[in-house]
Amino acid sequence: MSSQVQPLDVPTAILQRRSIKTFKTDPISPELLKQLVELTIAAPSSFNLQDWRIILIQDEAQKAALAAACWNQPQVVQAPVTFVFAADGTDGLNDLTPILKTGVETGAWNEKTAEYFKSAVPQFTEGLADKQREYAVKDAMIASTHLVLAAESLGLSTCFMNGWMEDKVKEVIGAADDPNLAIAVVVPVGYAAEPRLNPGRLPLGDRVFQERVDTPYQG
Ligand SMILES: Cc1cc2nc3c(=O)[nH]c(=O)nc-3n(C[C@H](O)[C@H](O)[C@H](O)COP(=O)(O)O)c2cc1C
Repeated sequence: MSSQVQPLDVPTAILQRRSIKTFKTDPISPELLKQLVELTIAAPSSFNLQDWRIILIQDEAQKAALAAACWNQPQVVQAPVTFVFAADGTDGLNDLTPILKTGVETGAWNEKTAEYFKSAVPQFTEGLADKQREYAVKDAMIASTHLVLAAESLGLSTCFMNGWMEDKVKEVIGAADDPNLAIAVVVPVGYAAEPRLNPGRLPLGDRVFQERVDTPYQG
């Protein structure tokens, strides 16, 4: 399968997606991989900070090391590519010039907005204090969801993974000494080697409410 595959529409991709635990070792073409990366980083982020670091693991030795950091879950060695989503909660304190410049150049933001962001973003980030990590992880999770749905749409399968040791994953990606980098999620991507059934969802009213959490949504 290649990027020439007719993409699935979003509702179909959402409903068809399953967490795949067994992958073929078939490679993903470089063009298709690039398309996936571009769709991943098209995700929105707080202030457009793009405060994720997305590391593509394809090298066999790196895959083996990452699998070990993921409690030896086999998906990581089988899948041709695994995306590690990391997040830096301090990006809002760094030089914002490239982001502000692009926003102005595209016409999306005017000079006034850019000027406001220049002071508001560091202030907001400072104010987050011990929630800086959490906010960056939100952005990385949204990007990973873009990846997962884009992959499904383009004929690939994925598995969100929380089963890993953060310090070990950081070692594998070369970030052991970076206290600001948090691991958000690990996502192997490839061609499914198994069918998987939908384990189902709770009835709507168990988890969805109208106005207040004591009023179940009936649909
Ligand atoms: C954030 C997150 C972390 C997960 N971590 C793992 C994991 O480490 N290993 C695994 O096999 N599945 C993992 N899963 C897959 C879930 O078990 C799966 O999404 C759930 O059972 C629903 O099945 P479905 O994805 O096919 O709809 C994870 C899913 C999410 C959303």
